Amino acid sequence: MIYLNGEFMPIEQAKIPVLDRGFIFGDGVYEVIPTYSKRPFRLAEHLARLQSSLDAIRIDNPHDKAAWSELVARIVAGNPWEDQNVYLQVTRGVARRDHAFPKGLRPTVFLMASELVTPSAELLKTGAQAIVLPDFRWLRCDIKSTSLLGNCMLRTEAAEAGCAEAILVRDGEMTEASASNVFVVKHGTVLCPPKSHLILPGITYDVVLEILRDNAVPHEVRPVMESELRSADEVWITSSSREVLPVTTLDGKPVGTGKPGPVGVRVHALYQQFKQRIMRAPAHA
Ligand code: PDD
Repeated sequence: MIYLNGEFMPIEQAKIPVLDRGFIFGDGVYEVIPTYSKRPFRLAEHLARLQSSLDAIRIDNPHDKAAWSELVARIVAGNPWEDQNVYLQVTRGVARRDHAFPKGLRPTVFLMASELVTPSAELLKTGAQAIVLPDFRWLRCDIKSTSLLGNCMLRTEAAEAGCAEAILVRDGEMTEASASNVFVVKHGTVLCPPKSHLILPGITYDVVLEILRDNAVPHEVRPVMESELRSADEVWITSSSREVLPVTTLDGKPVGTGKPGPVGVRVHALYQQFKQRIMRAPAHA
């Protein structure tokens, strides 16, 4: 079951007009909210990021937090899986084609869910493969925009190389990956780039930083050079669906020992504990 502009329906019945600016220009923003045991994880943070994305492209938020929470709850209740990815998208709405943002449109609001499949035990044991590519995307990667052609091109190159991700480099510095943030470990210290216009402020990124702080794991939030990425002892990618996933080969060469490293294994375990705590907390806590 999906939600479109005020109605719940089977996805096959959902239709949008061809002049929707989401279709014509990719003029919209989105969120992917992981839901464990039917309970959304970090919903308030996802809704806050949605607000920032909407503000950045000047769309008035069509719902307040209570209304969004209710829509997410109804989508989760209306779909069968215990663990779900809730996808929500807001576009500017329908208008005659003209690049400049028209005023006064009614935004299109769409929610759907899919089964949330986190990395298998086997993948966690071997780690994933990645390639390094130049980050040729635009300079507002902090906006969670549905205009994802750059990300799609980069992920396709990774997939064609048999890899799970493309890790991106701009002007000699690591930014993020095509659909995840990236952490590296060097001599026991975790390094990750600071938030900027060049990366998406990941919700998982924030959780991982909280975990590092709370457990006194040495870490530095600072620019990470391409050379540090390529000589790292450990590399991990983080996202709502991949959680904390070790990368064990880069461009076909082993990262560190070529096996998931101890810091990443520990942070993955702490992330699972963090999730469990959320799931045990009273509903709507
Ligand atoms: N992608 N960077 C990019 C470019 C992303 O697309 C994502 C998430 C992240 C990680 O953000 P978070 O931790 O909030 O999931 C970083 C989602 C899952 C997607 O597009 O499907």
